Amino acid sequence: MAIPKFIDDQEQLEKLAPVMKAPIKRHVFVCTGKSCSQVGSSEVKAEFERILEAKGLRQGKESKGRNPMGEVVLTDCGSVGFCSIGVAVLVYPEGVWYGQVQAKDVPEIIEDHLEKGKIVERLALIEMDS
Ligand code: FES
Repeated sequence: MAIPKFIDDQEQLEKLAPVMKAPIKRHVFVCTGKSCSQVGSSEVKAEFERILEAKGLRQGKESKGRNPMGEVVLTDCGSVGFCSIGVAVLVYPEGVWYGQVQAKDVPEIIEDHLEKGKIVERLALIEMDS
């Protein structure tokens, strides 16, 4: 295994990882573990992608339909223990874990939580202390 070279030049880091320059406000994880996949995680993730990209909120490469200066990072994650109550969706920095999320719930999570900062209480099963 090669040992990675440690880079401490800020400009070089930002060139290599443009996400560093984006005004990131939130990171959304959609569980794509086996159990969540069986109850629709790909549809949930696709709905996040569709709406966040249409609103210009999803950070990423323009060539992929995303916004380099977008405020939301959307990624998959592995199982977090909500296997029987998926689909699990986690939103940080608040540390809110949503359960039983379906694609039809995604517009509400985006509009209320990601855009207005208002947690969708009916789906929020864990709210971490800050
Ligand atoms: S598979 Fe999603 S929480 Fe376990």
